[in-house]
Amino acid sequence: MFGMSKIMPTPYFVMYENKLMQNLNKLKELEEKTNVHILHTVKSFNQSSVLPTISEKLSGISITSPKELGMAQTANAKHIHLYAPAFKYDVLESMSKDISTLSLNSLNQWETFKTLIVSKGLRINPKLSLEIPEHCNPNVTDSRLGIDAVEFLDNYHNNSNQFNQLEGLHFHALFQDKGEGFTLLIQYIEKNYSAVLPKLKWINLGGGHDFTSPNYDVDTFVKLLNDFESSYPNIKIYFEPGETVTQSCGDFVTTVLDIVTVNKKQIAILDTSIETHLLDVAIVQQKLKVQNTNQEPTPYLYELSGNSCLQGDIIGTYFFTKDLQVGEQIIFEDMMPYTMVKMTKFNGMEKAKFYLV
Ligand SMILES: Cc1ncc(COP(=O)(O)O)c(C=O)c1O
Repeated sequence: MFGMSKIMPTPYFVMYENKLMQNLNKLKELEEKTNVHILHTVKSFNQSSVLPTISEKLSGISITSPKELGMAQTANAKHIHLYAPAFKYDVLESMSKDISTLSLNSLNQWETFKTLIVSKGLRINPKLSLEIPEHCNPNVTDSRLGIDAVEFLDNYHNNSNQFNQLEGLHFHALFQDKGEGFTLLIQYIEKNYSAVLPKLKWINLGGGHDFTSPNYDVDTFVKLLNDFESSYPNIKIYFEPGETVTQSCGDFVTTVLDIVTVNKKQIAILDTSIETHLLDVAIVQQKLKVQNTNQEPTPYLYELSGNSCLQGDIIGTYFFTKDLQVGEQIIFEDMMPYTMVKMTKFNGMEKAKFYLV
């Protein structure tokens, strides 16, 4: 990979600045082509040494808590958007002075906070029918995330005065979307919110857009947005992606501590653990990309496991291109978004270090 990987003690995460800049340049280009504002969702990636670079290049940062507000401020975010499923009164009152826009999640929260002096919007659950894994699908019918769209529209049409202070709408409905879901979302909004849209100052079209993927349908995206903007020239459009901002920008490097053979199965024990460094693997049950492995069977089959005392601390089974040795490095690719932010110190293990190269 590069010299440092053999020198630095593992485990560590490493981010490649040139790859991050490629992603940021793509996002910036999209902003310029469409006049939209892309905010980085900081819960997906919050390394303090990198946030100022992201913040400088993009239009702002999207946050959920006072701690993330501090991160956004330190990174000099130009626009700070705040959303959480629910707020305590004193916490939101104090944060409201330092944010640019706010999305509230329910009609109860709207009643509680509608007189707060900040540009306010409501998160709506559009309940789009999309093929998204259940645990991260915000469209599920009994989701607590966002107001039921029918309930909101009924309330709006029956008594729009209660929404006099409403300046924005927020729809976070997509996941790793290459453009198809976005087409459905924008068509859905134009069709159902024609009475509301002319009164709004902004709309937040959420995260889950895979903008930096080579397969993202940029042309359709640009066309849909240009059409929307010509119908509603006074509405500022925000997006708040997380994953796509740091996707494909870095790896996680570990070392084989021991190799044991049990019932003819070769198990490599690594200096990491799912519980401490790879919680995503447990939650999302994701198959990680491991360097020097094949999809097709090879004679070198290994179960990669963690070094905690939990039997279930198993990362996965992989066909390697050659025999593994104790002391050898195992490199997990594309590990920047959501993995590092979830690290713990379970079993007394240290959190993995982070390097930018
Ligand atoms: C409200 C909201 N906005 C934005 C995001 C970022 O989504 P993604 O990382 O899929 O782009 C999330 C992720 O869960 C979210 O819950």
